[in-house]
Amino acid sequence: MKISMSSPDLTDAERQVVMDVLNTPNLSMGDQIKRFEQAFCAYTGAKYAIGVNSGTSGLHLCVRAAGIGPGDLVITTPFSFVASTNVLLFENAIPVFVDVDPKTGNINPELVADAVKNVQKYLPRTTHIAPRTLKALLPVDVFGQPAEMDAINAIAREHNLPVIEDSCEALGATYRGRLAGTLGDFGVFAFYPNKQITTGEGGLVVTNDEKAANLMLALRNQGRAPGDTWLSHTYLGYNYRLDEMSAALGVVQMSRLEELLAKREQVAGWYSERLAELPGIEIPFVESSTTRMSWFVYVIRTQKGIDRDALAQRLEARGVPVRPYFLPIHLQPYMVERFGYRAGDFPVTEDLGRRGLAVPFSGVMTEAQVEYVCDAIRAEIVERQS
Ligand SMILES: Cc1ncc(COP(=O)(O)O)c(C=O)c1O
Repeated sequence: MKISMSSPDLTDAERQVVMDVLNTPNLSMGDQIKRFEQAFCAYTGAKYAIGVNSGTSGLHLCVRAAGIGPGDLVITTPFSFVASTNVLLFENAIPVFVDVDPKTGNINPELVADAVKNVQKYLPRTTHIAPRTLKALLPVDVFGQPAEMDAINAIAREHNLPVIEDSCEALGATYRGRLAGTLGDFGVFAFYPNKQITTGEGGLVVTNDEKAANLMLALRNQGRAPGDTWLSHTYLGYNYRLDEMSAALGVVQMSRLEELLAKREQVAGWYSERLAELPGIEIPFVESSTTRMSWFVYVIRTQKGIDRDALAQRLEARGVPVRPYFLPIHLQPYMVERFGYRAGDFPVTEDLGRRGLAVPFSGVMTEAQVEYVCDAIRAEIVERQS
């Protein structure tokens, strides 16, 4: 049976709108991006939506809009995809990592509270630039589950810090009934083909802050402010524009969001039914504050006595693709080199990093495919043990 790690869920409607754009002369900055942004404003209730060409660009624009610069400190998580930290490095800011909750993998709000008060204690061993002041919090909604945003926002309010919510993995999730991505001052979504909706490549920022939104609109378009001509640039900007083909694809995907989320939830349910009782592994934990999980990946964790990497190899040999998830950010070679991190610095993150294994997951998986994957896992774990 052919099983892929992930797959987009596309129909003829998506194919048709992309073709329709190709039959016009407007391939960038036309009606489609406006429609895509309007769909997000309608869905999230945010006043402003800024479509961009990746989640990373969206996060970077938020970092610029929050005025984060060289030496500034931002509290964030080492258990994430690298982009949530990289956007700080782009501005020569210093990520201040705190460890995560062992059940969800989301940033631990108690540690955030401590780090805000005693930031010196949490600084990396070495920095390439003198540390300055604490400027923002950057929590990540890991694997489609919102971070403990009430606690994080309370800390942010008390210390007058903006919150950039990285919801790149969590479109459609709700936290105590409120949508992920709308819980901080800025929310960022991403649309790579393994995400809940895809535009091929793409991302989008939502915010209610008019000044920040206007700055981000200018920065994504080579720093052109309203009134600038094509060759005049008020700001140092980027080409972070989302093209019209991608935006058109996104409009159709957004119109199918409920269907796409429901299908992913069903696939996750098929996995959980089959794997919940299996000795030697843990299935994803859904926190009570997560009123809706938006399944992005399905990550199992091996328990003591099971070698995750050996299991991964054997599953691959059986034609089941799997991925260790995540490799901690602080132990990536460039982070070790710049900040002097060592194994043991963030034990919970490292433990999750050692035990997490993402199995094939998408909304187009069939129950038979899930069954096949689960049979392979069961065979490798139970039969090898006995
Ligand atoms: C948590 C997180 N942040 C940021 C990103 C970056 O998104 P993109 O790959 O679209 O740049 C991703 C996506 O992979 C992600 O999972």
